[in-house]
This record gives sequence, C-alpha cells and structure tokens, in this order.
Amino acid sequence: MKIGIFPDDDSIGRAAADLVQELFTHHPQANLGLATGSSPLATYRHLIDRVSSGTLSFARGQAYTLDEYVGLEPDHPQRYRHVIYRDFLSRVDFPAQSVHTPNGNANDLGAAARNYDQSIAQAGGIDLQILGIGSDGHIGFNEPGESFSSRTHVGVLTDQTRQDNARFFGADIDAVPAYCITQGLGTIMEARRLVLVAQGRSKARAIRELVEGAVSARWPATIMQMHPDAWVLIDEEAASELELIDYYREVWEKSRA
Ligand code: F6R
Repeated sequence: MKIGIFPDDDSIGRAAADLVQELFTHHPQANLGLATGSSPLATYRHLIDRVSSGTLSFARGQAYTLDEYVGLEPDHPQRYRHVIYRDFLSRVDFPAQSVHTPNGNANDLGAAARNYDQSIAQAGGIDLQILGIGSDGHIGFNEPGESFSSRTHVGVLTDQTRQDNARFFGADIDAVPAYCITQGLGTIMEARRLVLVAQGRSKARAIRELVEGAVSARWPATIMQMHPDAWVLIDEEAASELELIDYYREVWEKSRA
C-alpha cells in the first residue's frame, strides 16, 4: 500500500484529487467510484475547483457511489444519493445519466443489488474508487464479519456505525437506518485503484488495523492489503497509532523524489 501522511485535510484532498485528475487526463471516459460522508469532502472541493476552472472534466466519465441507506423516504436529505449530489455531483459535470447509485428503496432489494453489481461490470469496472473508513473498520458499508468476496448486497449497520452517523440525524441513533445496500468487498476490490482518505483520532485504531493488522473479517478494510494499487491518505491524528510511522514517511518521500 502507498501510505501518505499529511498535515491537514486540505493536503489530503489535494493529493487524492491529483490521482483523480491524473486518471481523467489519460482516460476521460473513466469510471469513478465515490464515497459519501465527511472524509472525502476536501477531495471533492479540490475536484469542484478544478472542474470550475476548466482544468478537469467528467463530461465523458461515469460515477458510481458505494452505498445507500435502506428505507429512508425518497426526499430524506440524508439519503446518500441526495448527499453526494449536494456535496459534489451538482457542482461538477458528470451527465445526469452517467451517475449511478444503489437503490435503497427498491421493492426487491436483492435484485437491485445484483443489478448494481452487473451495471458496474458491464461498464468495464471502476477505475478509481474513493473510500472513507468507519471507526469499526468498514469500507462501503461492509461491517465486521462481512465476506471478503461479497458482491453488492443488503447489510445490517453496527451500533457503532449508527452512533457515528447519528450526527447527521439530529444526534438520534434511532433515526439512523439499521439496513443499507452496499457494494461488497469483492466488488470494491475489483476497482483498479483504491484511494482511502481518513482524518482524525476517531479513525486511528481502524487505520492501524488497516495498515499493520492481520487481514481479518473483524476489520473489513484490511482486505485492502491484498490490493495491488491501494493508497491510504491520512492526517497525523489518523496515523497516530501506526507503529512504523517514520518508515512510511520515508517511503512516501523517497517515492516522490
Ligand atoms: C460512505 C461509506 C462509508 C464512509 C465511512 C466514513 O459512502 O462508504 O464507508 O466512508 O462510514 O464516514 P465519514 O467519512 O463520514 O467519517
């Protein structure tokens, strides 16, 4: 894995946006995988600025989001489809028909999950997947115990995740849905490049497990150790439990020299 440790959120966002821009410069028809939530906001800000200034365009690309809550009212502001439009998609130039999100309100959620997986495969797969990480080690909404080869599926959120996300639901954990539909770990691992961004002390344990822990279903993100092109871009606080932090800094600097 490539591990970049940055002084602040803005520099994480710039580095992640550089990777996205490099992809679209060489491959304007690329498929970009998007995460919702707070972690990628600085990345999205940098990408929005570059699209606004004309140095980057997604006009020929496709976007696929990772996951969605199940059962929120169609107009609920915390539906991930709405959140990602508010935070990113409404301010860049992906054509509307090129944006794909899992349907958490489908009558047949199993079929919706299978169809979503198929649509990614038919499009040729995700070229670059942006990821956040849950404090319990989830990526997408793949919670502890999830199969490493899972496809897009309906899952049950942990109390930890519902507690973490209650801040978006008026601090009311009961208002956070218990179910989700998410790309599986197998689906995510098929992306050609993974770029995980994380900030803050609350992510430090999960980052330690991701980078230095044993590959284990207890910490689903550890499967990224098996990916040939995974990037972990974090701030000092998220890096604070890494045993070999000085070594990772040295490798990063030498690989940029
Ligand atoms: C969101 C997603 C989740 C989040 C994770 C961290 O689409 O897939 O894995 O990335 O829960 O959330 P934040 O960034 O809000 O801390």
